[in-house]
Amino acid sequence: MIELLINRRSVRSFKETPIERKKVETLIKAALLSPSSKNKRPWEFIIVDDKKMLERLSKSKTNGSTFLKNAPMAFVVVADSEVSDVWVEDASIASITLQYTAETLNLGSCWVQIRNRTNEKGASEQYVQQLLNIPKNKQVESIIAIGYPDEKKKTYSEDQLLYEKIYKGRYGERYR
Ligand SMILES: Cc1cc2nc3c(=O)[nH]c(=O)nc-3n(C[C@H](O)[C@H](O)[C@H](O)COP(=O)(O)O)c2cc1C
Repeated sequence: MIELLINRRSVRSFKETPIERKKVETLIKAALLSPSSKNKRPWEFIIVDDKKMLERLSKSKTNGSTFLKNAPMAFVVVADSEVSDVWVEDASIASITLQYTAETLNLGSCWVQIRNRTNEKGASEQYVQQLLNIPKNKQVESIIAIGYPDEKKKTYSEDQLLYEKIYKGRYGERYR
């Protein structure tokens, strides 16, 4: 796991190679295995691999979503706020579970934040809801773009880790 965490970087440039069905099925399984508060599993996932739809989704935000148009696929992570009051946490855990699982499959990924974001037309969430027929009472947390990486980023090194944020016993007391 620690190797995976050191090596994982957000990938925003993808090869055109489609993702094998078996890998998609593994990603689906991983998403459905995500832990959730009280095991309420308030999330739902929409798999998008249609080029035209990905192109439209790439306009979900004013900044930070353009690369979706070149991704071979994406998982749109939706949750029902009436099922769980901590749906944000549940949907976030599912999103990162998808990203870590993608990594184990030699796939790259990047989170596109939808909740609380905007594009030229207004709320990103409404834009995505309309495009994908998502009912208004279902919240859109994120879109996780996934594909074979077409970029190689530096892995994390020890000196990039913010050890000063780690305390022991009480806030402000350094861990030594
Ligand atoms: C909650 C969250 C929201 C993010 N939203 C976006 C986004 O909308 N667009 C984007 O390009 N990257 C987004 N990212 C990716 C971050 O920019 C990236 O994880 C961060 O810069 C660290 O880089 P790394 O993932 O390569 O370690 C998001 C990541 C998280 C965890």
